[in-house]
Amino acid sequence: MAENTTTFDLAPLRQVLDQYGGQKGAVIPILQHIQDAYGYLPKEILTEVSRRTGIPVTRLIGVATFYAQFRLSRRGKHLIRICDGTACHVRGAPKNVAAVEKAFELGDDGTSPDYKYTLEIVYCVGSCGLAPVAVVDDRVYGRVEPEDLVERLREVAPEEH
Ligand code: FES
Repeated sequence: MAENTTTFDLAPLRQVLDQYGGQKGAVIPILQHIQDAYGYLPKEILTEVSRRTGIPVTRLIGVATFYAQFRLSRRGKHLIRICDGTACHVRGAPKNVAAVEKAFELGDDGTSPDYKYTLEIVYCVGSCGLAPVAVVDDRVYGRVEPEDLVERLREVAPEEH
């Protein structure tokens, strides 16, 4: 085991490589399975994939950055999407963003230090009549006010507060 992978369980990686390791052109399924197993594509795991398959890390990262489905950094358990499209913006989206950032101490990557939440800003989710809109995991909250939104988010992860 490589030294820098000691914090990761390598069993899922072994499974993926048993299945796809010998196949040419299997980079995308390998990355998909790794992301399913780890929640994102940890640099340490990509290094290990490279070591075991001979695929250069730069190629793995190149593919990962090309496709929007792949994430190279760890994301919070709950994904908050706040719409800042025109309708939502004029109806208060920036206040919702500021409230969520402050309440959960989100970092520059939009993720809380405890990895409970990640915030993404999106531009029009097609529900302008409900502006301002936030989508928490798969639930849509319309005409949402900052305090309400923070409260809803605390309810999403009640065991964690
Ligand atoms: S601008 Fe936010 S839903 Fe359309």
